[in-house]
Amino acid sequence: MMSSDDSTRMKGQQDFLDSLTAFTKEHRASHWSGPLSEYLEKIVAADPHAAARTSHQYMWDMIRWTRKEDEHGNFRSGLFDQELFGVDESLERVVDYFKAAAAGSEVGRRLLLLLGPPSGGKSSLVILLKRGLEEYSYTEAGALYGIKDCPVHESPLHLIPHSLRGTFRETYGVDIKGEVCPHCRVRLEQQYNGDFLRMPVERIFISEAGRMGIGTYAPHDPTTADIADLVGSVDLSKVAEFGDEGDPRAWSWSGAVYAASRGMLEMIEILKVKREFLYLLLTLTQEKNVKVSRFPLIYLDETILAHTNLAEFRKFLQESENEALLDRMVIIQVPYTLNYKDEARIYKKLISSAAPAFREVHLDPHVLDAAAVFAILTRLHEGEEKEQELVKKIRIHANEDVEGVNRSDAERARNKLPDEGLSGVSPRFVINALSNAIIQSDKRSLTTMDVLLALKDGIESDARIDPKKKRKWVDYLVVARKYFYNRWVKEDVHKALFVSFEQEAQDLLDKYLDEVEATLDNRQIKDPITNEERRPDERFLRSVEEKIHISDSGKQSFRQEVVRKAMGAFKRNEKFTLDSHAQLHDAVQQYLFEQRREVLRLVSSSARPDEEVRQKISVVEKRLVDEYGYDTHSAREALNYVTTLLAQE
Ligand SMILES: Nc1ncnc2c1ncn2[C@@H]1O[C@H](COP(=O)(O)OP(=O)(O)OP(=O)(O)O)[C@@H](O)[C@H]1O
Ligand SMILES: [Mg+2]
Repeated sequence: MMSSDDSTRMKGQQDFLDSLTAFTKEHRASHWSGPLSEYLEKIVAADPHAAARTSHQYMWDMIRWTRKEDEHGNFRSGLFDQELFGVDESLERVVDYFKAAAAGSEVGRRLLLLLGPPSGGKSSLVILLKRGLEEYSYTEAGALYGIKDCPVHESPLHLIPHSLRGTFRETYGVDIKGEVCPHCRVRLEQQYNGDFLRMPVERIFISEAGRMGIGTYAPHDPTTADIADLVGSVDLSKVAEFGDEGDPRAWSWSGAVYAASRGMLEMIEILKVKREFLYLLLTLTQEKNVKVSRFPLIYLDETILAHTNLAEFRKFLQESENEALLDRMVIIQVPYTLNYKDEARIYKKLISSAAPAFREVHLDPHVLDAAAVFAILTRLHEGEEKEQELVKKIRIHANEDVEGVNRSDAERARNKLPDEGLSGVSPRFVINALSNAIIQSDKRSLTTMDVLLALKDGIESDARIDPKKKRKWVDYLVVARKYFYNRWVKEDVHKALFVSFEQEAQDLLDKYLDEVEATLDNRQIKDPITNEERRPDERFLRSVEEKIHISDSGKQSFRQEVVRKAMGAFKRNEKFTLDSHAQLHDAVQQYLFEQRREVLRLVSSSARPDEEVRQKISVVEKRLVDEYGYDTHSAREALNYVTTLLAQE
């Protein structure tokens, strides 16, 4: 027989094969090639707008292609859904940038600069845009065409001579922008005798690895970085073949700006590059061309997306000559999230993509949330020292209901202060602490306390953090534990003390009523099993009533009132429940918790628990495991922990 493990595995394998099939089907997009004349006739005529798209328009179409609607039916991109959390505002601004640029706004002539703290998701954002472009270019709507063998895979429409572009506009209703590149110009003359209608065109597919429509530039060493990395240089091996250094066919078109043509150029750590590079890039965005030796201007249409961190940016700001450059950039901040639930999702994502040894360690259900609370505390505005205020703020940022804070107050409190989210602990810091905890302890199961301790180690051993900040951050760990973790773990344990709290409470209420009626009527109670008669259990009644401070002299009238209400319910054919009597509700609830807390006290008090105690404890442990996300080890730890908390109460 097949075990359920086997069948899950087989199902998984089938799913994987299915997704492979879907993948290849999607990527078996129709290839196309033909001379310009056919391109005009078959492809441009069918959709002139699509054929004449600029890189910004293409990016915007790609983003629209990932369209999802939010709860109000507004546009939202689905591109970032599974990958980026808690940075919605930045994502919206990026999307808005492309929307405006596609519509022809001036922003399209400025370089887009993402600015944010380290490990804040800038690179991830750019990667998602790149992957989006690659996918989109395989769809029908995203079909893109270029001159075959052109080093910048330029638009075939560039081949239409200027003298004919007016007629073209009248015929197709779209403008042609751009000039044929020097390479294709020579080919056109020498190979096709100027007959541009015969120039070959093909469908192109965006691919970062294939240097098609995506270019990436990272400065390795700014002092040796050569502008040739961006714009290429003479290819000496080809000079012999073409006989002239000035022949565009002898030029090495390997620069990142050429790869990026029609799509996007990613500039990593852009402010580290020489100013000469920056000028070239700004001209490229503004004028859509680059100048290299010997050639006329080369027309290039691409979107430049750059990123940098804050330290680099502040240095850049200090040099006054950079002001003019700044003016030609659109800067979008990508701060850390302030919502601990989103932050915890980031950790979860990072863990799920880690090595199996790491991924398979069990974490108690509050590990990530507690670590995230700590991380957010380090990112809030400095100076707000009162613990209670910080706690409130954290909860408001996570959209939790906080007692005494109405919706508009919460809305106001959620507005970020300018410096919030720009410094403090990064997701990577937390993940590093977590992996240290795993490596050092060699455990298969970590509790929230283990991880808070690992974070403490991480802070104390980090030479980049000054001592004052270290103390403050260690205090934040205490806040995360005291006001968040303690509350969460207590709630779990309390709930786990009951099979069904509702049922047990109702049973207790019924028992209370029976006993009260018997005392008031002054009669005996018959034991349902032994059939023996006994007097009503006055000690039980008092222990319930004392929970809500009913005095001995007041007990008679309280009991009469309870019976009256129960009778009333009975007459109306209703069930008498805890909801029918608020005071009794409290009394019963407290009684039950008190009673079960005995189980917790047993955890710590009996050095050698007897079978019955052991049994009681293991039932609670099991419930923590089955229903609340613990494993045996962390359940036991949680019980011990809550027991010590109770001892301090
Ligand atoms: N808001 C977020 N949502 C999801 N994942 C995130 C988020 N922020 C960071 N990460 C994850 O953290 C890791 C580091 O992020 P990334 O490399 O994108 O940051 P960065 O801003 O480019 O940092 P740097 O300035 O160091 O280059 C990545 O694996 C990324 O997926
Ligand atoms: Mg990065």
